[in-house]
Amino acid sequence: PHDAAPTMARTDPDAEQLLYELMLDPGNENPYDGYRRLREQAPALVTGDGTLVLTRFEDCDTALRHRSIGKSDDVLDLGIGDEAMDRPGTMVDLLRDSMLFANPPDHTRLRRLVSSAFTGRHVEALRAAVTARTQAMLEALAAEPGGDFMDAVALPLPVNVISDLLGVPEADRLAFTPKVHALIAALEPTADRDTVALGERSGRELVDYFTALLADKRARPADDMLSRLVASHEDDALDEQEMISTALLLFAAGFETTTNLLGNGLHALLNSPDELRRLRDRPDLMPTAIEELLRYDSPVQFSARTVLEPVTVAGADLEPGRLVLTMFGAANHDPDRFTEPHRLDLGRDDGSHLAFASGLHFCLGAHLTRLEAQVFLTLLVRRYDPAPAGDPVRRPSFTVRGFDRLPVTLSPLP
Ligand code: HEM
Repeated sequence: PHDAAPTMARTDPDAEQLLYELMLDPGNENPYDGYRRLREQAPALVTGDGTLVLTRFEDCDTALRHRSIGKSDDVLDLGIGDEAMDRPGTMVDLLRDSMLFANPPDHTRLRRLVSSAFTGRHVEALRAAVTARTQAMLEALAAEPGGDFMDAVALPLPVNVISDLLGVPEADRLAFTPKVHALIAALEPTADRDTVALGERSGRELVDYFTALLADKRARPADDMLSRLVASHEDDALDEQEMISTALLLFAAGFETTTNLLGNGLHALLNSPDELRRLRDRPDLMPTAIEELLRYDSPVQFSARTVLEPVTVAGADLEPGRLVLTMFGAANHDPDRFTEPHRLDLGRDDGSHLAFASGLHFCLGAHLTRLEAQVFLTLLVRRYDPAPAGDPVRRPSFTVRGFDRLPVTLSPLP
């Protein structure tokens, strides 16, 4: 809303300390106050090793859209904390050949192969199936007062939706989710050695699983996305490693994030009963409500980019290879973009957020996740009065913000 002065990047040891404190306190109840202090003190912070850390909305958006700034596979080696180390063989290796770590022209080719399945029109066709699943899960949870929302709905709903789309068999889907958790935990900027080792082992098992599954799709093609991926491999559109990385990326991205949107969203509504009532009375607010929940407590708190060719960002002259961190959680609470950013306002119309990033890597699953959130929230407010039922347990992660446990009681409305 306001015209902010241009940002001037600079070093600032105090602000750098603040950043590391945030990263070393994963699962923090309220990181937004820390982000605010960081943004006020040094909105474009240059760290000791030359990484540029952006906390303003406009600066993050500019960097994410800039053609001189892209991805590389050293993006995760932040080199901070006591446990800073090389992480050979982790997610970066496994996902190196997926669109997430690619630049054009590879990015364009890899994304185009699967993007048509994620358009609004294709995703809309899933509504009836998503509704049936959500309804059954909510009924089961309502029958168990004080049950864990994460376990009963937030995790199994998106796992089943993405697995149906990809063609991951029923028997395997939930069994592999802890391995994806372990893989992602190894990506934390401050992961310790054991976490990294477990992440690597889990990653190998996931790769073995998807290698076998893709072989099975080749032998017995079905009407699912992995079968189509195998067919494009046979047309030389992508190689073996790219095919496996793509399958693993879609499976992992398809639930890790949506799970936390559902959990963080419900938690925010439980803490703002007035907003929950407002949504019940005004179902037409559903589209802005979902965007607001994405903004208010974003499931993905930051991403990293690498400078590809010399460029000036927020007053910093950057050479190729420099890292740029875009702090989504901070940008989504920037008062220069959002009026009263710490207030949950389900009718908010300040403009788009960065929960899905922006530019070339804008979330491919945005329509799918919006559909799942819309179906869930509509059924929830129409049929139930949800109430907290015990202390939630936060997931000990800085990158992925969410809950491990969220006990609730769903009382059926008359
Ligand atoms: C990319 C967030 C759901 C698939 C991204 C990125 C973000 C994000 C921030 C950009 C990452 C970066 O630039 O480093 C979210 C959130 C979700 C969600 C907050 C739910 C609340 C999904 C779902 C899928 C999905 C359901 C389904 C498969 C992807 C893929 C990419 C991506 C494939 C990589 C796109 C590219 O590199 O071009 N997502 N996501 N996401 N997301 Fe999502």
